[in-house]
Amino acid sequence: VCGIVGYVGQRPALDVVLDGLRRLEYRGYDSAGVAMLDGTGRLAIERRAGALANLEQRLAEVGTERFAGTSGMGHTRWATHGAPTDRNAHPHSDASSKVAVVHNGIIENFAALRAELETAGVEMVSDTDTEIVAHLIAHAHTRGPAAGDLSASVCAVARRLEGAFTLVVTHADEPDTIVAARRSSPLVVGVGDDEMFVASDVAAFIEHTRDAVELGQDQAVTITADGYHVSDFHGEQAAAKPFTIDWDLSAAEKGGHDYFMLKEIEEQPEALVNTLRGHFADGSVLLDEQRMTEQDLRDIDKVFVVACGSAYHSGLLAKYAIEHWCRVPVEVELASEFRYRDPVLGRDTLVVAISQSGETADTLEAVRHARTQHARVLAICNTNGAQIPRESDAVLYTHAGPEIGVAATKTFLAQVAANYLVGLALAQARGTKYSDEVAREFSELAAMPDAVRRVLSTVEQVRELSRRTAEAKAVLFLGRHVGYPIALEGALKLKELAYMHAEGFAAGELKHGPIALIEDGLPVVVMMPSAKGRAQLHAKMLSNIREIQARGARTIVIAEEGDETVRPFADELVEVPAVPTLLQPLVSTVPLQVLSAEIARTRGYDVDKPRNLAKSVTVE
Ligand code: F6R
Repeated sequence: VCGIVGYVGQRPALDVVLDGLRRLEYRGYDSAGVAMLDGTGRLAIERRAGALANLEQRLAEVGTERFAGTSGMGHTRWATHGAPTDRNAHPHSDASSKVAVVHNGIIENFAALRAELETAGVEMVSDTDTEIVAHLIAHAHTRGPAAGDLSASVCAVARRLEGAFTLVVTHADEPDTIVAARRSSPLVVGVGDDEMFVASDVAAFIEHTRDAVELGQDQAVTITADGYHVSDFHGEQAAAKPFTIDWDLSAAEKGGHDYFMLKEIEEQPEALVNTLRGHFADGSVLLDEQRMTEQDLRDIDKVFVVACGSAYHSGLLAKYAIEHWCRVPVEVELASEFRYRDPVLGRDTLVVAISQSGETADTLEAVRHARTQHARVLAICNTNGAQIPRESDAVLYTHAGPEIGVAATKTFLAQVAANYLVGLALAQARGTKYSDEVAREFSELAAMPDAVRRVLSTVEQVRELSRRTAEAKAVLFLGRHVGYPIALEGALKLKELAYMHAEGFAAGELKHGPIALIEDGLPVVVMMPSAKGRAQLHAKMLSNIREIQARGARTIVIAEEGDETVRPFADELVEVPAVPTLLQPLVSTVPLQVLSAEIARTRGYDVDKPRNLAKSVTVE
């Protein structure tokens, strides 16, 4: 959610930090701020509600002389404690203005700590949980065992905090040093030549270095221009994992597209290729990490899929594949509901947690709940080393690359493919499919990047029909079988991007209520089942289309190429390649993504940064 960047090096830190914040904008935020140390013991802080441009304008007004140092930090805040105002924006400081703190996460014992500080006479100037951290660190740095040592002071305070946090801290008395700490919230270190970075994700420093270090749970790092030192919260030296970032700056730039989402839609064939690559060899599906035995997999007698939003929709598709291939019951649950209803879990339950960010708080808590009940957890994730895969027994990474648009596109398609890989891995382990059958299913999956490439040829047609749909009051989406989760996904995309009323229905439910919504000119998007693969469902859907068309709906039909039977009932027909039924979502989702993005753009909205939304939701 919040974006964090810290820098110590040889260059003007303000430029590096502002560039870094720009690259983190996609995470979603509602205020921004910077703190710079000028090397002579002075700390300069500026913060502003709203877009980064407001902060930059403010800096231009006050002049950047005070911000001329070579170490500093910046933050984009997505409000949790306290409204998105100038006063609540980060960085926060203490009464002596020596400490600056930026923070991502929520400090759960905030009220008790605040009361303690207020009793001691500290005056709070914001409503945030972060400000208390600045006061506590200032206090620890002045007296007691950690006095005069910023790293020890940060660790002493981190030990007292409950909840999830990434903290980045500077102190005016220790210029050219930044200390950062994390618990259940992301933090990476960027290692450059005579310069070091800390950030909530690598996008913040990818233009400067591809050498990074991933911090573990309850670890702190001290960076100076010439190196870094990692410790646990008790100051004991700790090991952290270095890695090389396997994508470059161009992956995080628009590359000539009007908006990132369109670029990411077009990157989907590549995202699928990369997700499938390395996950199948010698007739077997391979996971990236497996801390459970083959026997554990064989013993699985129940599967739960837990996820949120689009990831949840991909999970609904996992059910069709896993039940069909593995003959094991699958339940798909919204992660935010899962642990509150006491699900029946045990050693032989597999919980598949799907999260592109690997940070989603609801999904993480569902994973933790599953583990307390001794269930096995398999994570599907797009972010290397994120918290959810770390806490899981097995991991399959979707190598979709960075997704800058807030709405999930290529990570969604990659999740669908990953779900199918998990289904095949399970079928193989349980012996419900022979290896030649697994190989056949995999080869069909491997043909999908080409099929998606062909769908991309419809982008212009869909953009054009979207512009004609942008004035509608509402849009409905209908599907059957695997088309139903896609109807839900299409509706979610339209809600989040175009701020329109949109709903997805199982077409069979139409006559049980929703048909009352149909009125003259209402656009209804229909996911047509395959005429060959699902003849019965196809016939039923054809009747549904007739029913809604007869009541005045404007039908926008996504059907497989050559399906002539549907043509007379389609006011708009978008043709997608014919593929095996289970794989249909991989092609039929694409036009819906384009539809929502283009309607949003026509209505004048920011496609990549929809209002009120954040890329990763690290609060429940
Ligand atoms: C919708 C969207 C969200 C995410 C959801 C889960 O376009 O992006 O619904 O799918 O917030 O996020 P992850 O996959 O990071 O757990």
